[in-house]
Amino acid sequence: MNILIIGAGGREYSIGMALKRDESVGQLYFAPGNGATDELGENIAMSDFDTLADFCETNGVDLTIVGPEAPLVEGIVDYFEARGLTIFGPSAAAAQLEGSKIFMKNFLARHNVPTAKYVETDSLEVAYQFINTLEAPIVVKADGLCGGKGVIIAQSRDEAKKASGEMLSGNSFGDAGTSIVVEEFLDGYELSVFAICDGEDYVVLPAAQDHKKLLNDDLGPNTGGMGAYAPTPLVNDEIYRKLDERVIVPTLEGMKSEGMPFKGVLFIGVMVVNDEPIILEYNVRFGDPECEELMPLLKSPASELFYKAATGDLKNINIEFYDKYVVGVVMASKDYPYKSSTPTEIIIDDIVHEELNEHAHISFAGVSRGEDGKLYATGGRVLVCVGVGDSIAEAQERAYLLVGQVHFIGKQCRTDIAYQAL
Ligand code: AMP
Ligand code: GLY
Repeated sequence: MNILIIGAGGREYSIGMALKRDESVGQLYFAPGNGATDELGENIAMSDFDTLADFCETNGVDLTIVGPEAPLVEGIVDYFEARGLTIFGPSAAAAQLEGSKIFMKNFLARHNVPTAKYVETDSLEVAYQFINTLEAPIVVKADGLCGGKGVIIAQSRDEAKKASGEMLSGNSFGDAGTSIVVEEFLDGYELSVFAICDGEDYVVLPAAQDHKKLLNDDLGPNTGGMGAYAPTPLVNDEIYRKLDERVIVPTLEGMKSEGMPFKGVLFIGVMVVNDEPIILEYNVRFGDPECEELMPLLKSPASELFYKAATGDLKNINIEFYDKYVVGVVMASKDYPYKSSTPTEIIIDDIVHEELNEHAHISFAGVSRGEDGKLYATGGRVLVCVGVGDSIAEAQERAYLLVGQVHFIGKQCRTDIAYQAL
């Protein structure tokens, strides 16, 4: 099977690694890929849908897997399917679950899926009225896609009002913020749960935990995610059962009944409050860096999982996972997440720690290949050091051993990834 992966991050690199382990995979392509994906397959520099679809037809691509949300929200799946191509991801209609927070919140309300109390509005007056009924902290969210930055956790009513005003006037997020959601703050622990869906049936992956703040102890600004681990012991069978019954089943049935069956990755952002899973948000793609920890857990062939999901055939699949733990530590560039940093060469020690050969690896993200053939850190989140072990502590130790062997000027990482599980 020849496969095209759309995207350029560590997430797409890790999907590529999982497919590489899979004997039924022939040629692997990345569009556009990054400076390291060319070691797994061939990078192709194209992005518009018709050129990509032409490429798939000409090169016998059997399956396209979409990493990031933007092309999904823009309708790449609809376009490819209209051309008779097999593609894994939701339609533009279904991708509204991520593309519009208002669509998502109203959908959850229509189908009785538990979520934080909220109002959605484009009126400052309505926002103020609701804010006056809440105690701080108060959460204010821009409606549209903001690259993960559209959420303000205000520490007072005044701050919440100010954030609402700035969003609604278009000052903070442009058009993405001309409608907003104001909601109550949920105090609990956060999970990332992923269901691979084919429109009808689904497979739930082991639950993961991301670390969104830049610094240890969850301090500092929000980021795209500084590290993750899976499976998390914070989830027991009872929580998985509640997620199935109260969240995944009503969501998939609701999407079907509203004429937009959900196919692709349903990324469920969950806050567990007093043992009850409450939905913070949906995304319609894998989390990054969560994908980098989940792919190594997949024992069954990755191509089969994605192909069967794309073709509505998940009921005929039995997916197995390794009985292991995975910890991934993001190494970011000097000025992340504030601004981009000067490109700097990445130097990786010749492996000194023998056990790392077998139980750890790097998933490359914001990297470019220089004309000198060397790898340079050019993005914000540069790479993820991934450790695999029989316990979380062992996986964590291996991930950090590997971190110690990777060098670039200005590198930064958290040193406490997976702390909630240890
Ligand atoms: P979102 O983009 O909706 O996932 O929000 C980004 C982050 O803000 C989430 O991962 C949470 O850590 C936090 N967050 C969002 N909504 C809430 C809420 N209602 N209560 C507490 N934290 C929240
Ligand atoms: N790691 C969170 C996200 O990908 O949105």
